[in-house]
Amino acid sequence: MTDAFRHEYFDDFERDHPNIFASKLKLLETAITLDGARETGYTVSVGAGTGSYEAALRADGFEVDRIIEPSANLAAEARARGFDVTEAFAQDVPFEDSSIDTMFYNGSAFGFIDEATLCDLFSAHYRQLKPGGVLALLDVPPASALGLAVQASFLITQESYISEVLRSSWYSADTPHKEYWRTTDEYRALLESGGFTRLLTWQTLRRHLIYQNESVEPVVQGYQEGSYVALVAVK
Ligand SMILES: C[S@@+](CC[C@H](N)C(=O)[O-])C[C@H]1O[C@@H](n2cnc3c(N)ncnc32)[C@H](O)[C@@H]1O
Repeated sequence: MTDAFRHEYFDDFERDHPNIFASKLKLLETAITLDGARETGYTVSVGAGTGSYEAALRADGFEVDRIIEPSANLAAEARARGFDVTEAFAQDVPFEDSSIDTMFYNGSAFGFIDEATLCDLFSAHYRQLKPGGVLALLDVPPASALGLAVQASFLITQESYISEVLRSSWYSADTPHKEYWRTTDEYRALLESGGFTRLLTWQTLRRHLIYQNESVEPVVQGYQEGSYVALVAVK
């Protein structure tokens, strides 16, 4: 799976959709700071891809100390951006207990992980976070406008209005498919089984897909409207 990722899929999309990138970045910053209420401290990004969001975070004053990224192509790109990158699956990386202030998965790396593994992983993350630490999961929910269009595109392979609309807000059709499409409520339950009790949500990209790149969208609380949602667990 991992070598199927090419950095161009992300670079090309982000260059052509700067406002979508900026909206998602704002959601990520809201999630990891709890909307400006905390410092991010020692920060780990899981499934960081090319490290483009991490570089944008650094430009905004939020340092990412370590990246976990299993794709060799994408890890090389993140390394070239100056990050400390461990080329591995999240479930294979041991961290010391109570050693991390902030951990985030931007862009659904957890959607490539089966449920039993994810249960163990979220329990491990609970232990690895310091008290007050934050685990942020950012995802395209399956019932959101974008989630439905992406899933429909897997089933409808010929050119259609869905593929036309999807090109305005999604990556190349060749980008590897997220395997597990779970709702935010399902992730909430998995996090609770891992030990988390305080959970918060924010969302963005609430417009129809064809308008999402017209300007940067605001971040609002909740998870039932946006095509990009942050589910944030606080230890
Ligand atoms: C859709 S990409 C998102 C990349 C980047 N974070 C972004 O938002 O543009 C999903 C990423 O998850 C990574 N990934 C897949 N399975 C993973 C796992 N088990 N542990 C960590 N990362 C994983 C992939 O290699 C890929 O970089």
